[in-house]
Amino acid sequence: MRIIVVGCGYVGLVSGACFAELGNDVVCVDTNPARIAALNGGDCPIYEPGLERLIACNRQAGRLAFVEALPFLGNDVDLVMIAVGTPPARTGGADLSSVFAVAEAIAARAHERVVVVTKSTVPAGTGDAIERLIAAARPDLDLSVASNPEFLREGSALADFLRPDRVVIGTQDARARNALMRLYRPLTDAGVPLLSTTRTAAEITKYAANAFLALKITFINEIADLCEAAAADVRDVARGIGLDRRIGEDFLRAGPGYGGSCFPKDTSALAATARELGMSLRLVEEAILVNEERKYAMGHRVIDAMGGDVGGKTVAVLGLTFKPDTDDMRDSPALALISVLQQAGAFVRVYDPQGMDNAAEFLAGVAFARDGYDCVAGAHCAVLATEWAELRQLDLSRIAASLAVPVFVDLRNAFDPAALADAGLMASGIGYPMASLIASRKRLELGRPRKARPAQVPAPAEADGNRLRHPHHATLQ
Ligand code: UGA
Repeated sequence: MRIIVVGCGYVGLVSGACFAELGNDVVCVDTNPARIAALNGGDCPIYEPGLERLIACNRQAGRLAFVEALPFLGNDVDLVMIAVGTPPARTGGADLSSVFAVAEAIAARAHERVVVVTKSTVPAGTGDAIERLIAAARPDLDLSVASNPEFLREGSALADFLRPDRVVIGTQDARARNALMRLYRPLTDAGVPLLSTTRTAAEITKYAANAFLALKITFINEIADLCEAAAADVRDVARGIGLDRRIGEDFLRAGPGYGGSCFPKDTSALAATARELGMSLRLVEEAILVNEERKYAMGHRVIDAMGGDVGGKTVAVLGLTFKPDTDDMRDSPALALISVLQQAGAFVRVYDPQGMDNAAEFLAGVAFARDGYDCVAGAHCAVLATEWAELRQLDLSRIAASLAVPVFVDLRNAFDPAALADAGLMASGIGYPMASLIASRKRLELGRPRKARPAQVPAPAEADGNRLRHPHHATLQ
C-alpha cells in the first residue's frame, strides 16, 4: 500500500518505519527541515533501540522516504496518517493546532478521494472535527476519516508496534475499515487481535488505556507507602495481587511516580475532556495530584535518608530520563527530585546513559558526570532515579567505597536490598521495610568505621564549569 505519514516524531517515525518494514511504500513528512535533513543524512533524531537500523534498511530498500512538504495526494495514495504532536494546552486539554494544520494541508493537496487516519492521541470528537474541517474546505472530496491509536512504549516501540497486544481501528465507513484491515493484515495473520469500533470509541480507548495504567502505578505507589508504614514489602504485595489474572503483574512496580510524554499529558487531557462534557473523572483527577506530589516527595525522602540537612552536601543522581532506554526527559521524576534537593541547598551531580543532552536543556546548576562511578565519587549520597541496565550493573562495593558517606537511595527498587547492605551501603528503597538500612547502619557503626572524604567533594563552583557533554548524540522531539 502507499502511505503518507505526517509528523516525524516518536509515533510517526516508528509507525512509518514499521509500515515500510511490513512491505508498504511509505513517505514521512515533517515541516522541520533540520529533522528531515538529519533523517535523509542517515541520523535518527530520537533514541529508540533498533529504529535507526530499521529506517536505514527500509530507505535502502526504497520503501521509506522523508520529505518536508505534504506531496500531492493522488488516487494512488491509500492512506494519509496524522502523527503530529498533541502537547498539553493551557486548559489541561490537548493542543490540536498541529492536527488541524495537517487537516488543512490535506484538504489543499488531495485530488479526488482520500482516507485520513489519525494516529496522534486526540480527544473524543476530534475525528468529527477533522472531517468537518476538510469537508468544509473541499466539499467535492470523497473523504473518509478514521482513528487508529498507537499503544507503543518508548524503549520497546518496535516490538510494541510489530507484535502488539491488539490493534484498534475506529471507522465510520467500509472504505476506511477495509483499508486499515488490509494494512494490518500481516499482523492479524500472525494472530494479533484487531478491534474495529466507532471513531470516537477508538479515540477514548487510547486515553482510557493510558489513564488506567497511570492509575495502576499510582495505586501500587500508595500501597508502597502503606507497606513502609506497616513494615511489609510492596514487591511481595505486588506479586501477590498481580498473579490474580484479573489484575495482572504488569505496571505494578512501585517507584518515584510516572513521567514521560504520555501519561501526564494524557491523564490531564482526559480529565479536561470530561470537564468539557460537564462531568468529572474523579479517580483520574486524584491520580494526577497524587503522582505530582509523589515526584517532589522523592526529594524529601533523599533529604531524610541523608539525615535531614543537605546544605552544601553533594547528591549523585544516577539516571535522569523518565524511564530506561529512551533519551526523553519530559516530566521525568528526576527533575522534581533534583529541584527539591537544589532548593534545600544540595549540590547535585548527575549521570544518564542517553539523556545527558536533553537533560542539559531542563537542568541548571548541576554537574554532568562522565559515568556512574564519576557521578558518585566523593558524594554524600547516591540516588538511583532511573533503572538503566548500565546502572544496575554498577559494582556496589566500588560505589560504597567511592562515596564520602555511603548512603544509597534506590527509587526504582532495582537492587536487592541485601546486596546493597552487603556492599556496605546504608540503603533504602521504595515500599519495603528499612531493616536493611538499620542493619547496614549497625554494621557500619560496629565493624567498619568510615571516614568522610570531603576532599573529593566538588565545590559548588564546579556546577557551572563541569558540564561535560555526553558523546552520544540525541536530540529532543
Ligand atoms: C505509555 C504507554 O505504556 C503506551 O502504551 C502508550 O502508547 C504511550 O504511553 C503513549 O501514549 O504514547 P511510555 O510513556 O513510553 O508508554 O512509557 P511506560 O513504559 O508506560 O512508562 C510510563 C511511566 O510509568 C514511566 O515513568 C515508568 O517509569 C512508570 N512506571 C511504569 C512505573 O513507575 N511503574 C511501572 O510498573 C510501570
